[in-house]
Amino acid sequence: MILVTGGAGFIGANFVLDWLAQCDEPVLNVDKLTYAGNLETLASLDGDQRHVFVQADICDRARIDALLAEYRPRAMVHFAAESHVDRSIHGPGEFVRTNVEGTFTLLEAARGYWSQLDGEARAGFRFLHVSTDEVYGSLAPDAPAFTETHPYEPNSPYSASKAASDHLVRAWHHTYGLPVVTTNCSNNYGPYQFPEKLIPLMIVNALAGKALPIYGDGMNVRDWLYVKDHCSAIRAALAQGRLGETYNVGGWNEMPNLDIVHTICAILDELRPRAEGSYTAQITYVKDRPGHDRRYAIDARKIERELGWRPAETFETGIRKTVQWYLDHAGWVGNVQSGAYREWVSRNYAARDAAA
Ligand code: NAD
Ligand code: DAU
Repeated sequence: MILVTGGAGFIGANFVLDWLAQCDEPVLNVDKLTYAGNLETLASLDGDQRHVFVQADICDRARIDALLAEYRPRAMVHFAAESHVDRSIHGPGEFVRTNVEGTFTLLEAARGYWSQLDGEARAGFRFLHVSTDEVYGSLAPDAPAFTETHPYEPNSPYSASKAASDHLVRAWHHTYGLPVVTTNCSNNYGPYQFPEKLIPLMIVNALAGKALPIYGDGMNVRDWLYVKDHCSAIRAALAQGRLGETYNVGGWNEMPNLDIVHTICAILDELRPRAEGSYTAQITYVKDRPGHDRRYAIDARKIERELGWRPAETFETGIRKTVQWYLDHAGWVGNVQSGAYREWVSRNYAARDAAA
């Protein structure tokens, strides 16, 4: 089996669902179930013997050791993290704990487990670390896209904590020979994304008749990748990635935030028209994110050249599927909008006076 951390979150859960749709190799899913983890996402696996869910903290070394000894996975795929940049600005401590200390704990547990394996089990073991393009910092408008050799220049507490985790993973390979592969991916979107991130927040707010809050001038650029394409990239890196290497993963799809929001409004205008006219009327400019990175762009040629991976989805098809998914899953959205969610929304947006 494989061990997945953070498999009740957005990308981790999509990965688990995708994995079990494609093969019968069981998954041990280790997740603490923070506000971002949601077992309802995995409800279709209820009663499926191939999925074992364990609620545990990746910082709990004794628990991770016991799970490795009991289930003896052939690989670990590490998604678990605090992942929202705005939350890292409000409270960086949890980001350092989970992303740095948690990754350190997993690496040490993996090293102890792997060093006792023999023969094929030892040679085949993998630790796949899922990371982000944000570790590279911000690009000037005309600068070439991030390659794997771009210097690390993280700017937010989130990206600094992910950069630290990447460095630990690299060092555990270099010093101890732990068989690791790291992927650095751009912005994901798709089903089951928590509605604190740009795309699901805009869809959910639009449908609720609420403001669509654009930070700053709305011209910050991100590269967008449909989540299933990220899952297939991780599968490719796990199966064939060279040990100790990093692979950038991206959608070849750079867009300013304002264009993303206009695209969502246009799809909603078509699928769920408002009586009062376009959803664009709900767009509101608010105070910028402190330290807001201006542009990310990913050069994903290495993973294509070495592992034959390219995204299957275009932004046009992926965003339409995503908007339709949120229209069809109002129940899931309602259930994740707990009291804690509402408290976060008022904390993050109350302080941002409308800046128009
Ligand atoms: P998410 O916030 O949706 O999910 C994170 C999951 O980790 C949750 O299920 C949560 O309960 C779990 N978790 C948090 N702390 C934990 C702990 N201490 N122990 C065990 N479980 C814990 O995140 P996501 O968007 O699915 O991102 C997954 C990974 O991919 C992260 O490592 C993130 O840095 C990386 N990544 C995300 C994106 C993106 O656009 N979302 C892009 C590139 C890379
Ligand atoms: O690049 C990969 C990263 O993408 C991942 O590592 C992170 O885990 C993930 O959260 C994401 O980070 P971003 O900060 O780019 O994503 P977010 O959805 O929070 O914001 C996308 C852009 O939209 C960013 O420029 C800020 C802007 N934004 C965001 C929100 C939530 C707004 O203008 N308004 C908003 O309300």
